[in-house]
Amino acid sequence: MLPAGPLMIEHRLIEQAVSLIEKESEIIRSGGKLDLPLLTSMIDFMRIYADRCHHGKEEEILFSYLEGKDMDEEHREMMSVLIDDHRRSRALTAELTELLESFRRGEQGAVDDVVRILDTLSQIYPDHIRREDKMFFPVAMKYLSKEESDDMLARFEEFDSTLIHERYKAEVERMMAQMGARQ
Ligand SMILES: [Fe+2]
Ligand SMILES: [Fe+2]
Repeated sequence: MLPAGPLMIEHRLIEQAVSLIEKESEIIRSGGKLDLPLLTSMIDFMRIYADRCHHGKEEEILFSYLEGKDMDEEHREMMSVLIDDHRRSRALTAELTELLESFRRGEQGAVDDVVRILDTLSQIYPDHIRREDKMFFPVAMKYLSKEESDDMLARFEEFDSTLIHERYKAEVERMMAQMGARQ
């Protein structure tokens, strides 16, 4: 398998989550109440799976590997636009996290802002994934030898295996902070 394989499999799950985000935005726009637990799960997915796990492997392994290659300017430019998309979606997810926090504290937040962020995320992703699947990954794979591809696949697995530990270490720290604040 080429390194594009596991990334494309992850794209399919991200697409499913993004279509739920799009649907949730429509529900809120047509007068539905903000479902905080559902939105929190959506943010968790975008933050941990889409960004940390998926973009993490793209940026820290695939893209950083390609950085050292003598790439065509056009391909290098494509990669830099993809990184910009990642940054944009990371910023939107952080903004949405803040907004939900304020709703949770009972403050009157701007529902319009929640809808704007959900809509922007559901616009960015399908196009971003299409550019990676159809344009960038096919050319990127051509820069890699068989040995480099195999090495990258092994690094992907190693990367994924550390994530659950990182995730729950952060969770314990969060619980400690939350309980400390209550005393
Ligand atoms: Fe990406
Ligand atoms: Fe991707």
